[in-house]
Amino acid sequence: MKIAISGKGGVGKTTLAACLAKYYTQKNHKVIAVDADPDANLASALGIDYEKALKITPLVEMKNLIEERTGAKPGGYGAFFKLNPRVDDIPQKFGIDIGGVRLLVAGTIRAGGSGCYCPENVLLKNLFRHLVISQKEIVILDMEAGIEHLGRGTCENMDALIIVIEPGLRSVQTAIAIKKMSADLGIKTLFVVINKIRNEKEKELITDSLGDFKVLGELPYSDRVRESDIGHFSPCDADEIFTKSIKDIAAKLDKYMKKD
Ligand SMILES: Nc1ncnc2c1ncn2[C@@H]1O[C@H](COP(=O)(O)OP(=O)(O)OP(=O)(O)O)[C@@H](O)[C@H]1O
Ligand SMILES: [Mg+2]
Repeated sequence: MKIAISGKGGVGKTTLAACLAKYYTQKNHKVIAVDADPDANLASALGIDYEKALKITPLVEMKNLIEERTGAKPGGYGAFFKLNPRVDDIPQKFGIDIGGVRLLVAGTIRAGGSGCYCPENVLLKNLFRHLVISQKEIVILDMEAGIEHLGRGTCENMDALIIVIEPGLRSVQTAIAIKKMSADLGIKTLFVVINKIRNEKEKELITDSLGDFKVLGELPYSDRVRESDIGHFSPCDADEIFTKSIKDIAAKLDKYMKKD
């Protein structure tokens, strides 16, 4: 199963990505979690020590790796470099094990203009494509709101894109913008997860605003999850009701994958 998670800033993308990754690992699946958000913090959400998380070097900043694989120095515009660099060994060699989840921190992918064809972007794009096409593992990509830099090759081979929203119309607006983008990129299936729900009324109001979006599940607002961000512990085991809701979301995903 290969899924990407996107949505407006701060809605809970990283929290969901981390908790699904941990859930499937606990179920004895091999999981690769990819932090594809320039503002990377999936490692912390997976429960790594805060100081250690700060020291992680994103793949796009691994100058030697980029040079070795593409034949070009990072930022070396105009130079010739390989458009199909080797990437298959990157998860094993450069992934970080956090409680059984293999984490890859991608770093900032420059979008638009000449940035698209710089060596570091080519390496990442090849890596993403490889992850969704060739890896047997479950792959979970934690994205920012933009998904266009994933490229068609990756999007068409992904099983689903999950857009996280919260009770607020701005996050629904972002979801609509992502939906438009995803159609252009060939994403097959789109789901919404509603996070931070405080009561039934909020749930009803936000559900009514969703039109034909398919809702995969809901996650309650949880003070313990909120505290996890301050207390440097993983939100995934912070709260029983929250954990149960993650389990329900995973069950729905599994059901959907079997049907496919
Ligand atoms: N269900 C929840 N209940 C309470 N707090 C939550 C919940 N989900 C997420 N949060 C908190 O909201 C904040 C943002 O969550 P998170 O980092 O997962 O969002 P994000 O969408 O990945 O943000 P960004 O756009 O910055 O990457 C964090 O402090 C997190 O602990
Ligand atoms: Mg995030």
